[in-house]
Order: sequence, then C-alpha cells, then structure tokens
Amino acid sequence: MISLGIIGTNWITKQFVDASDETKSFKLTHVYSRTEAKAQLFVDDLSKSNINISTDLEQFFGSTDFDTVYIASPNSLHFSQAKLAIEHSKNVIVEKPSASNIREFTILDQLAHQKGVFLIEAARHIQEPIFKTVQEYVETNRDQLTGATISYMKYSSKFDDFLSGNTPNVFSTNFSGGALYDLGVYTVYDAVVLFGQPEDVRYQAEFLSSGIDGSGTLTLNYNDFDVNIIVGKTKNSFLPTEIYFGKKTLLLDNGGDITKVSEAGAKKEITEIPTTKSDNPMDSESVEFARIINENDQAAYDKLFGYARKVNRILEQARMSAGLVFKADKEY
Ligand SMILES: NC(=O)c1ccc[n+]([C@@H]2O[C@H](COP(=O)([O-])OP(=O)(O)OC[C@H]3O[C@@H](n4cnc5c(N)ncnc54)[C@H](OP(=O)(O)O)[C@@H]3O)[C@@H](O)[C@H]2O)c1
Repeated sequence: MISLGIIGTNWITKQFVDASDETKSFKLTHVYSRTEAKAQLFVDDLSKSNINISTDLEQFFGSTDFDTVYIASPNSLHFSQAKLAIEHSKNVIVEKPSASNIREFTILDQLAHQKGVFLIEAARHIQEPIFKTVQEYVETNRDQLTGATISYMKYSSKFDDFLSGNTPNVFSTNFSGGALYDLGVYTVYDAVVLFGQPEDVRYQAEFLSSGIDGSGTLTLNYNDFDVNIIVGKTKNSFLPTEIYFGKKTLLLDNGGDITKVSEAGAKKEITEIPTTKSDNPMDSESVEFARIINENDQAAYDKLFGYARKVNRILEQARMSAGLVFKADKEY
C-alpha cells in the first residue's frame, strides 16, 4: 500500500482516509495540522496507531514516512502546499482546483514534470461508476448530442455564518472560494470529460458583499451546441441535469454528485438506467489514483492531467469574464 500524508483535518480528509482503508489503496502514516491538538483529535478519531504528527510544513514534507500527500486545505493554499510537496519529491493528490489561476497551475505542472512525480486533481465524481455510465451513454449517442443544462446548487452549511457577518474561507476571495471554484468545478469537469474543450466561456456571477460569487450562470459554447451551467452556494436547487440528444434526454439527478440516471425517450417515457454507486463517493478515486501511482500508468495520468489543465483554464476564463478576482491573482 502507498504511504500517505494528509493536509487538512476537516470531514473530507476523514472521508478520503476511510476510502483508502476500505479499498486498501493508501496507508495513512502522517498528519499535518496547524495545531497539534487538531492533528491528535483527527488521529484519535480514526483509532489508528503509529501515525506521526507535524505542525510544521517543512518538517512534514521532509519526513520519509510517506511518499504521497492528499491536500484538502482551502483552495488558495493548494498551490503553495502542492509546490512544497513536489519540491520534496512527493506525489500529490490535491483537491480540485489545484491552483487559483493558470499561472500557478503551470508552475505546478512544470515542477511535477521536472521532479518526475504525479500531480493529481481529486476530481472524485468522474471516477465513479455512475459517471462512467453517463460517459458511455454520451459517447454512444455523440452524433445526436444537442447540448446540456447542468445544475449544482446547494445552500452551504457555512452561509448562515456568512450572513451573520463572518467570512468563512469558502466565501472569501482570499481563499479562492465561491460557487464557481467550490461547486462549479464539478460541473466544468462534467463538461470537459463529456463534451471536450469549449470554444467560448462566459460566467455571470451574483456577487456577495465579500466580492465572491455566491451563485452564477456559466455558458460554454461548443461548435454546434451550448452547455448552460447553474451553480450556487446560497440556495438549494432541485433541478436535474439534462443532456440533450434530439428527442431524447439523459437525466441526472444533479451535476456534481450523481445518484440516479434516467433516459427520457422520444415519447417522453422515462426509463431508469441501472448503475452502481459506492457508499463512500471517494472509493473509486482512491483505487484509481493508487493504481496509477503503483503501475506508473503514464497514459491514464496524462489523460487526467489533460482534463485538469482544461478545467483550470476554463475556470480562469470564466472568472475573467465575470470580473471575479482572487487575492492570489495579485501575488505576482
Ligand atoms: N471532494 C469532495 O467531495 C470535497 C468536499 C468538501 C471539500 N472539498 C475540498 O476540500 C478542500 C477543503 O475544504 P474544507 O471545506 O474542508 O475547507 P476548510 O474547512 O476551510 O479547511 C480545511 C482544512 O484546512 C486547514 N485550514 C483552514 N483554514 C486555514 C487557514 N486559514 N490557513 C491554513 N490552513 C487552514 C484546516 O486544518 P487544520 O486546522 O488542521 O490546519 C482545515 O481543517 C477544498 O478544496 C474543498 O473544495 C472537497
């Protein structure tokens, strides 16, 4: 099993460690946190022994007890932490997006290349069997494809805190948060993996007082169809995601965390398409990322990295079109 260090002690990191245990893909050996107490709490909660703790990033990455790091910190920290990891010749699995802008992404890309390590964006949903079912359907019916409407809006558990006058990381331009970078990234992955590179990108954001996008609409223009995307962290949407094939429509219950796929036929009759969904949505990605690293599968890695490059470009183009500026954009 691949030895694993982690950054970030929130629930998502626990979910990744659980997935790694369940699938026997990674073995946690080292936890980084800004505070020893939080790291210890994280370790205690897992009931694991022989796990090292660091509160200093240089010391963490300088240690030899892990060779792959999973990074789940606020978005704006992904770049500096991933860069430091690569400089220490660690493979990196980093939450998406791995960078705040394409300048940062390019630096990581070049450095990972130089050091010969893997830099993998943890786009978990595209690894799930249910997404592969959608992908196969789109590929089979590609000649009839006429567009899509993708929806992913969830009232954030942190929005009440924002409304009470605080600025949680995810609602801050200092941390490269917002609807597009937090939830929109899933939908941009949907579009890139299913439909490829768009010709044009436009984002219309609904800004909050912090300067971040609370919600917005993103349009991706392809040669002969459009993909319209609705994202938001300030409201709950129950709209399905739809992919159009002339008279037929493929229905997904949402754009970021698909649990049900059906087909509406020419006579509007709806048929559910059988597929599988793991209880832990990170199972599939942990298996695949470990396989790529273990087998040194360069072709599979290049494919994933190609998706990441396109997604990061689209995110930046979208932000530019909406006038959405992050603190990280001003740091050079
Ligand atoms: N794949 C998924 O399904 C999924 C789901 C949720 C989130 N995510 C992604 O995971 C990442 C983390 O999201 P989150 O909601 O967990 O973020 P978060 O709560 O703001 O921060 C995550 C961790 O980063 C550290 N941290 C927080 N603020 C920091 C600061 N100012 N400076 C340095 N470290 C700080 C904390 O760990 P310590 O206090 O221990 O240092 C915290 O546990 C994001 O990229 C998000 O998009 C992915």
